[in-house]
Formats: sequence, structure tokens, C-alpha cells
Amino acid sequence: MSLVRIEDLRHHAGDTVTVQGWVTTTRSSGKIAFCVMRDGTGYLQAVFPKAEVVEGAWERFATLTQEACVSVTGVVREDARAPGGYELTASDVVVTAPSVDFPISPKEHGTAFLMENRHLWLRSRKQVAIARIRSEIEQAIHDFYYERGFIRTDAPILSGAIGEDAGELFATQYFDLGQAYLAQTGQLYIEATAAAHGKVYCFGPTFRAEKSKTRRHLTEFWMCEPEVAFADTNDNMRLQEDFLCHIVGRVLERRPEELKELERDLAPLQNVTGPFPRITYSDAITALQAQGSDIQWGADLGADDETALAKAYDKPLFVMNYPKEVKAFYMKENPDDPRTVLNNDCLAPEGYGEIIGGSQREDDYDKLLQRINAQGLDPATYSWYLDLRKYGGFVHSGFGLGLERTVAWICGIPHIRETIAFPRQIHRLYP
Ligand code: 4AD
Ligand code: MG
Repeated sequence: MSLVRIEDLRHHAGDTVTVQGWVTTTRSSGKIAFCVMRDGTGYLQAVFPKAEVVEGAWERFATLTQEACVSVTGVVREDARAPGGYELTASDVVVTAPSVDFPISPKEHGTAFLMENRHLWLRSRKQVAIARIRSEIEQAIHDFYYERGFIRTDAPILSGAIGEDAGELFATQYFDLGQAYLAQTGQLYIEATAAAHGKVYCFGPTFRAEKSKTRRHLTEFWMCEPEVAFADTNDNMRLQEDFLCHIVGRVLERRPEELKELERDLAPLQNVTGPFPRITYSDAITALQAQGSDIQWGADLGADDETALAKAYDKPLFVMNYPKEVKAFYMKENPDDPRTVLNNDCLAPEGYGEIIGGSQREDDYDKLLQRINAQGLDPATYSWYLDLRKYGGFVHSGFGLGLERTVAWICGIPHIRETIAFPRQIHRLYP
């Protein structure tokens, strides 16, 4: 008997096959019984006609419980009404591993309980759909840069330098060399590799000891960061447009079933086409004040401000040229207004907030050194980074896309914690 995965059943209509998987639900009338099972590649309904199954199978069916691991044998039948288009007319079922009192039943559970059972919750339909969309996005990211001739250069996770913000570091003792930090960003390192390859990106986990307990913050999240030589802030925003359109288009094209499972409204996603609207930070402040906000020029935008700004648009929104003081030390000073920098955040529509932060980099040695000192950072630690401005300094720009926020937005789910298999939050390290 050939073992077939549910996704491959369409190649086996009329054949007798065996499918292995886990029991989702069962129901039975006196003469016919049904088992919905899943094997990770899909869901399958197996139908057991009492008069036709092998001896003992009917009794074994009666012992099936949620998440028991089973091996079901039967004939594959095409059926337009069935999920996936195929059904199994089963003749036998064998329980290969029992599952007693699976904690997550189809009824509603509270989030705290589900998070505590995250290792099992991952098997639920919605969680499966989210994970598959995440995987599609990761693949789309790699394909996008590969097809454009970027070289993937991975940045270290253990670092001696602060990447973004001294207040948000995870530190660990590193042998005799003092403190090492878990990377907040790979950017500084890929600025070096950009001078070796021209167009590079890194994509890996990053860490922030942020005390923010919001639906947008994790302490460990994945970030994709491209860095491009001879590209200014406008080139940088064009790359972001192309990149986001590519990702969204790819999910719409290849993950329609998952989007349907999540009941995602497709219209806002179909609307993600370039160019995206652009406003300056100063205009953003004026717009917020006009809406009654008491925010003053110089303050960073909070989550509520971002939501209020993005509401006026039905595409991702670029907010450019923030005040120097609220942004990282490496951003290039704006020659037209030195109070500000040549940066942009990209705010997702539908209230999802900042999904990308990017900028042109300060390529002037003296200005960069001055920013390092002004922020109380140790210039010795950044000596190698300053070298990049000493030996063939070059105009360059890049950005970081937060994977989990992007997945939350594309899936249309309210909280970032469901976008990664095992989320790390201030109050969560289990499972
Ligand atoms: O704006 P950020 O801090 O930018 C950087 O780290 C730059 N070095 C990137 C670069 O230019 N190469 O972070 C980039 C993105 C944010 O827009 C957000 O999507 C995500 O990373 N992000 C977080 N996601 C989840 N939890 C957190 N605590 C996050 N902090 C940032
Ligand atoms: Mg940011």
C-alpha cells in the first residue's frame, strides 16, 4: 500500500492508498462514520461505511480521539464538495499513537491558555495558515533579492557594538572581552559587506530588551535588511515599494486558501501597488495637530499617531525626515534641514503601524563621529564602522523590514504573537 500525503491525493484518484496523520474531528451515525484528519499538507475527510470496512476497523474508529495519530487506508474519490476536492472511502484505520484529553478543543479558549499550550496550538487551522503565509513571505523575500542580484551576507548575532538603542540591549558576559550584546540589527555589519558586493541583505533574528508590552513588540523578532551602495533615500523608498508589492503579490497568488481560512479581506492587499504616498515628519505633525492631537514637533510618533496618519491612505505610507534626536546615530543629516535626517518609516495600512524603518547612512566621517559622541557611544567600539567612511566612503542606504509585523498585517490578525512559532515577550519564555 502506498503512503500518500494529503496534498498529493489528486494524483491518486481511484487508487487505494494509506494516509498517515492526526485526527481532527469524528462523527458517526449507525451505518457510516466520518473522520477529518490532517497530515500537515492538508485536511482530508475519510468516510467509513460500516458494511465495507475490514474486521475490527469499526470498533477501532470508535476509539479515535482528537490528535490521535492514525493510519487510514481507503480509495481516493474526487468530490468537489470535499475540502481539497478529494475524499477517502476508508476500509481500515489503525491508531499508531493515542492522544488522551488533548487540551485544545474546538471550543473557545482564552489567549493565556493558548499561549501556555503554544506547542500544541500550532496545530490549529488558523495557526497553520499563519505559519504557511509566514513561510511564503520568507521565501518571497529571498527570491526578491536573489532575482535582483543581491548577495546575502549574514550578520553576527553576538556583537560588541550597540546597533540602535543603548536602552534595549540584551547583554551577556563574553569570556575575557567584557560584555557582548545580542544584535538589535545587522545593519552596521552589512554596510561593510555592501562595500564588498554593492547590493547585499541579511535576514535573521534580532533582539530588543524593550519593555513595550504591546501587540506590535516581541523581544526576539526577524528582520530583513537590504543595504545598497550608490543609492540615496529616494532609491531606498523605491526599493521598499517594489519589495512590499512583491511580497503581498506573492501571498495573494500562492496562499489564497490560507488567506481564506483567516477570513482576510483581500481588497486592501490587492490595493498594494506603487508608488506609495509620502509625507514628511513635519507635515505629519501638522496633520496630527489638525486632528486635535497635542503632539509637538520633535516628539517621536507613537502607535496611535501612526494609526491616525495611515488612516487617511489606502496604501502603505512613507513618513520621511524625522528629527535627528528621535532616530539612530547613523542616519544621514538632511542637507535641506539639518534638524532632520534622510530617513523614512513605512506605515502599513489598516492600523498596523511601522513595518519598515530605513535611511540613507551618514557617509561623512566627521559628522558620524560627532553623532557617536553626542549619543554617548564609545568611538573605539565603532572604529571599524568609521573606517567605512575613511576608505572609499560612499553614498548608501538601506532599511529593515520587521517580519512579524508584516505577517500580522498580511494575515489581518490583531497581535504579533501569533506570527512566530514560539514568541518571546517580556513575560513569556515558555514553551
Ligand atoms: O526601525 P528599526 O529599529 O530599524 C533598524 O533596526 C534599522 N537598523 C534597519 C535598517 O535600516 N537596516 O527596526 C526595523 C523594523 C521596524 O520597522 C519593525 O517592523 C521591526 O523592525 N521591529 C520590531 N518588530 C517586532 N518587535 C519589536 N520589538 C520590533 N522592533 C522593531
Ligand atoms: Mg523604527
